Amino acid sequence: MTKQIHFNLFEMNTVGHISHGLWVHPDNTRHRFNDLDFWTDEAKLLEAGLFDAVFLADVIGAYDGYRGGPETAVREAVQIPSNDPLLVVPAMAAVTKHLGFATTFSTTYEPPFPFARRASTLDHLTKGRFGWNIVTSYLPNAARNFGLDDQIAHDDRYAIADEYLDVLYKLWEGSWDDDAVIQDRENRVYTDPAKVRYIHHAGDHYKVAGPHLTEPSIQRTPVLFQAGASAAGKAFAAKHAEGIFVGGTTREDYRANVADVRRLADENGRGADALRTFASAVIVVDKDRETALEKAEDYKRRSSAEGYLAHAGGGGIDLAAYPANALITDIIAAENKPGRDNSAGNRRYAPGATVADALEALTNFDRSAFYVAGSPTDVADAIESWVDETDLDGFNLRQFITPASAENFIEHVVPELQKRGLYRTAYEESTLRERLFGEGNTRLPESHPGARYRGGAHLSD
Ligand SMILES: Cc1cc2nc3c(=O)[nH]c(=O)nc-3n(C[C@H](O)[C@H](O)[C@H](O)COP(=O)(O)O)c2cc1C
Repeated sequence: MTKQIHFNLFEMNTVGHISHGLWVHPDNTRHRFNDLDFWTDEAKLLEAGLFDAVFLADVIGAYDGYRGGPETAVREAVQIPSNDPLLVVPAMAAVTKHLGFATTFSTTYEPPFPFARRASTLDHLTKGRFGWNIVTSYLPNAARNFGLDDQIAHDDRYAIADEYLDVLYKLWEGSWDDDAVIQDRENRVYTDPAKVRYIHHAGDHYKVAGPHLTEPSIQRTPVLFQAGASAAGKAFAAKHAEGIFVGGTTREDYRANVADVRRLADENGRGADALRTFASAVIVVDKDRETALEKAEDYKRRSSAEGYLAHAGGGGIDLAAYPANALITDIIAAENKPGRDNSAGNRRYAPGATVADALEALTNFDRSAFYVAGSPTDVADAIESWVDETDLDGFNLRQFITPASAENFIEHVVPELQKRGLYRTAYEESTLRERLFGEGNTRLPESHPGARYRGGAHLSD
């Protein structure tokens, strides 16, 4: 059977997420992100286009590592101003029935108990369509917003995240039984107290008594997404994540990284098929190749190199501070910042890359590993061959112009993929987890570490 490909729209509750400078484009409506109907219109569009989900990124600090301050990011609207992504989900859920929501939240700065409640609330309000992109936050400014002088060391953030997840599983999976709420009017019992329990978590970083405040939602644990690229990040993903973003600079990298995370999940006893793997898709499409290429040129002309560099400088390297011929690996080794994964130079940039190479790669969206500008068949061919050759399951679609990027994809690419049997023609499942793993798979599978607390088991281990 042909594998249907998953598509999320890559979003953020902000003006400039990853396509910098394009807010100036006359067709772009990004400046309307403070309006609720910006989000409800988008949700309706994506559901009409049979998308899997809208995927909302988030950061909790400013990008102030470029040229010594936040001025460039502020001027260029690089992820600032930005609003809370969780809060737009209920509005989008109210105007849709099927669209999923995958929303970013960081495990590093806010404790797990209130997040457990917020996520359960969102899973209730969306009727099981909520997913969570787990991040540990890479911006040094975020640390300074939460009482720290600098970032917690990179791998320590993943250790904290691991315990954070453990607390959440206890609350989401173990604290309430499915049949706890009985609403027995006659005997005046709303919830059977025998079926709700403390979790009494006491670990290195958190002490949480419970019980969870929210009754079990449809999925209980939201669908867990993660994008770790470091050794610690991948190990975390292989243990916890159900949707994984893989990266790389070439198609071969992607194939190797997909195989690697599947192998790691298998080694964790979850099976290689416990994961759905995603990549970012950079697509410019129109009715024919010529029009698409003209459009890509237009986007390029209006893009802001300074915006891209402010973005890259946030948690990475201030490329303006080094000579063009300096090696990225040397800079990372010399800076040796504990908050950063210092092997990053070998992954994010091609081996042997200099500052000049990085400037070129970062400021040109057509240098992305998966970039295609062309006709509907050009784009569908590229998607099909990538999926065949890399074993990826899906993509986050990058936006240049809102709503045009999603509209163009829905108008031109979706029908072509449908013709090839690679894209759904109707929604079949109702929860987000079922959409990724098939009907009946609404809850975490037994092989997932979160499942061990079901029915209150192992809470006192
Ligand atoms: C598609 C994608 C989306 C991401 N979204 C966010 C985000 O919204 N917020 C964030 O802090 N980090 C985000 N990241 C960064 C990752 O969480 C992660 O930190 C990064 O890939 C580096 O991996 P490492 O943490 O293992 O070093 C994203 C990464 C990718 C590839």
